[in-house]
Parts: sequence; C-alpha cells; structure tokens
Amino acid sequence: MDPTRLVRSSARAARSLQLGWRVVIAMTCVLLLLLLVKSSQAAGTSSTLQEEVAPSSRRLQAYRDSTNVARHGPASESFQLSDGSWVDCVPIEQQIAAHEPNLQDHIIRMQPSSQILMNNIFLPQIDNVSDKQQQLPQHPQLFAREHGGCREGFIPVQRSDPNQQLFRKHQGPAADRGMTSTTSMKNPTSASNGPAHDYAVVAVPSTTGGYTGQGGVLSVNGPYIGEPSSEFSLSQLWTVAGSYQLENLNTAEVGWQVYPALHPSQQPLAPHLFIYWTRDAYLSTGCYNLNCPGFVQVNSTWVLGGTLAPYTTLAQKAKFEYEFSIFVVFDSGTPGWWLQIQGTWVGYWPSSIYTTLKAGRADNLEWGGEIAPASTTPTTTGMGSGAFASAGYPVAAYQRNVSYGDAASGNWYYASFTGEAVTNTNCYTVGIQQGGYTNWGSYFFFGGPGALNNPACANTLLEPENLEAFS
Ligand SMILES: *[C@@H]1O[C@H](CO)[C@@H](O)[C@H](O)[C@H]1NC(C)=O
Ligand SMILES: *[C@@H]1O[C@H](CO)[C@@H](O)[C@H](O)[C@H]1NC(C)=O
Ligand SMILES: *[C@@H]1O[C@H](CO)[C@@H](O)[C@H](O)[C@H]1NC(C)=O
Repeated sequence: MDPTRLVRSSARAARSLQLGWRVVIAMTCVLLLLLLVKSSQAAGTSSTLQEEVAPSSRRLQAYRDSTNVARHGPASESFQLSDGSWVDCVPIEQQIAAHEPNLQDHIIRMQPSSQILMNNIFLPQIDNVSDKQQQLPQHPQLFAREHGGCREGFIPVQRSDPNQQLFRKHQGPAADRGMTSTTSMKNPTSASNGPAHDYAVVAVPSTTGGYTGQGGVLSVNGPYIGEPSSEFSLSQLWTVAGSYQLENLNTAEVGWQVYPALHPSQQPLAPHLFIYWTRDAYLSTGCYNLNCPGFVQVNSTWVLGGTLAPYTTLAQKAKFEYEFSIFVVFDSGTPGWWLQIQGTWVGYWPSSIYTTLKAGRADNLEWGGEIAPASTTPTTTGMGSGAFASAGYPVAAYQRNVSYGDAASGNWYYASFTGEAVTNTNCYTVGIQQGGYTNWGSYFFFGGPGALNNPACANTLLEPENLEAFS
C-alpha cells in the first residue's frame, strides 16, 4: 500500500469536518470504501509478488477438460514447427504429472539441490573435443531454434492425437536374462507386446542399491525401419531397481527412438527424444514422455517426444556424427531422479512415483540399443545407424563418456563394462572400447543392419535361446 495516498485521504476527511453532518457521513462512507478498496488491492499485490519471487513454490494442480478427462492444462500458445509438428505451451503447474496420485500437492522443484550440481564436476576431465566428434548445432531441437521456448511458467508438450492409445514399453534387457517363453505374455493388452526384442547392450555389475545415477553421450542416428507400422529402433540409458519376478521393477529411461507408430504425424522416420518410466515391470504403470502422469518437467525449451535434428544417416556418408549428452542423477534434496540433457536440467522423476527406485539407489545400469521386430522372422530394421559396431566412427552408432554415480563413495566414475547382452550377433553387435579413442572415456559402438542385405541374420530364428546373457 502507498502510505502517502493514505495521508492525503485522511487530510481530505479532516477538512470535511467543517461541513454539515450529512457531508461528514457521506465523506466517511467514501473514506471507508476507499480503505476497503486499498486493502483488497494490497492483498492482491502481495500474493502476485509472492509467485514472482518464489516460483519454486509452484504446486501441481490437476486439470480436467469438459468431459472430465485428465489432461495437461489448456495451452497458452501453440506453435507449428517447420517440420510440420505442433508444440503446445501448457502451464507448468497444470502439467499431466498433477494427476499422479502420489503427487497430490506436490511442490515443483525448478532445479536440483546444490549437492547434485557438485557431483557432476567430480568426473575426471579426460574428454577433449577433436574434429572426430561434433555436437548438435545450438539446440538439437527445432522448437528451441525456431521459437526460443515457451514463456516463463510454461512447458512445451509435443502434440499428439488425444485418441491414440497409450503405448507401453517392452521389458528392458534385464528381463531377458533367464527369460521364459511366458514372460513376455504377461501383459496381453500392451501395444508393444509381441515377439522378443533384440538388444545390443552393456552394463556395470548388478549391485543392490549400488548406483545413484548414470550418464552418456549418444550419437544421433536415423536407422532404417523395415516395418514402420509397428517396429522401432532406439539408443538409450536404463536406470533400474527391483525385480521382474516380484513385479516391482522400477525404471527411469531416456534416449532417442525411431518409432513411426508413436509419431505418425510428426516426422515418423526421424529420431525422437524420449523418456519412459515404470514401477511395476511395465505391466500397468508408466508411459513415454508426458503422455501420462509421472515425470515433472521444468524446462521451457526441451520437447520430450520431439525430434532431434539434424541426425546422421548411413546414406549421408558423413565425416562426423551428431551427438547429445544425458545424465540421470538422484537428488536427495528433491527427492527424485533428475534428467539433464546437454547440460540443462529438464525435469525429474519424483521419488514418490516409485517403489524400489524410491530411496535413490539403482541396482542395474544399462546403456545400448534395442529394436522391436514385427514378427519372429528377423527384421530388416537397423539398430544404431544400421551398421555393425565394427564399422566404427563415423559410421556405427555409439555411446561415449559413459559414467555412473557410485552410491558407496558418492563419486562419479567412467564405467568398466562387465556385462554385455547381445541377442543375435549375426544381426547386431557391440564393440567395447573399440578403436582406442583415448579421449572418449568409457564407450562402445553398437548396432547392425538386421536382416537387410544380411543373409547370416535373415537365416537365424530369433528365439530367446539365442540370447548371450550378461556375463
Ligand atoms: C564428457 O565428460 C567430461 C568429463 O566429465 C566432460 O567434461 C565433458 O563435457 C563430457 N562431454 C560431453 C560431450 O558431454
Ligand atoms: C531450459 O533450457 C535452455 C536450453 O538448454 C536454457 O537456456 C534455459 O535456461 C533452461 N531453463 C528454463 C527455465 O527454461
Ligand atoms: C586431445 O586428445 C588427444 C588424444 O587423446 C591428445 O593427443 C591431444 O593432445 C588432446 N588435446 C588437448 C588440447 O588436450
């Protein structure tokens, strides 16, 4: 409230005393009214100030549309990108996470606590930039490059068909260790249920509660997809706790994926940034990106589910490969698992959505590629770039700077891979530390052409028995 204006009002009231009683009463009423208006304005001003000063106290608010369907809040602005896709800017408080039962009254954390910010710089600085590697130009997503991002207080959401079914992910590579033929039949309604997937994946030793996070720099490739109506190919990180048998397997997952069925109207053959989570071994919880409640996004420029552009294809015969960096890190201050992409904290998977990843300790960390075949006949879908690991740089896909957070010491280390899961080396392979790049930290090449111009793979039957388990 402005004090000088109050003094002036009182002075005016004093002068009015010299006039008749009717005037006095009238003026008193005016003064009272004035005071009332002033005090209500003051209340309004202070609550607005509070929001501007402390955006960290933003609370999730569940929004339902006119037909009572749980959605993101209404977009303040919508943008069509030059590739034809649409991005909606929705209020950060009304993002879909507000509908997660375990996030009632959740106060959004805009960034991790200082503890986690320090953890990242503990990694030994063994990386130096050479002309062999090339980061994506500026921001690797069109939305940020063309529109800069959403306004403060809003987050970008990749628009999707509201009638599209919720795509559920197939079990991760750990599922296939000791897999029986009935394992993949547990969720018959799942859209991704089907023939066993192929993996070319590396891991650090499985240690109960041993890990607080993981990182990697991923090449961004555009592999060939043989059957676009159902197949996909991806490169990702898996942060895992719990077990399939107890159906309490929890995951936080991130990477890129070419999955035309998931993005039918948005550059279906391009690699899309994706995240995923589950708390019941992929049975009934979790989803991709912001398609269901769970992940809390805070950044206004990154579009989960949006394409990564440009990317490298075999046809380009390029001299370098585009790449981007990822960290998934537990922050006890939030508490939750934070996602960092290209140095930006994009958002987090709150601890409260989990059962076994809850305590900030992961049991298994995995990095690598996966493809989903349409049938039990080997597919022509490529993994990675579509080239075998042995093709090396700049042809085969890779993940480098592969690191993990060690729960016991609190430090970060480059991974020593002790496990490797490759379902069929005739189709897809892994090459650990292949080529001796001394400035890449821990790394591996991976991928392959599948059955495309490759009889050795085409003539193999993809049975679970072909799996070379983690050793
Ligand atoms: C690789 O790791 C090093 C050490 O932490 C870091 O300085 C560098 O920025 C990382 N490279 C990329 C591309 O993220
Ligand atoms: C989001 O990310 C962009 C680019 O990575 C960064 O410039 C910006 O400061 C981040 N923060 C917010 C709140 O959007
Ligand atoms: C970068 O790494 C290469 C190979 O590991 C090394 O020969 C070179 O001296 C390094 N450059 C810098 C600037 O540190």
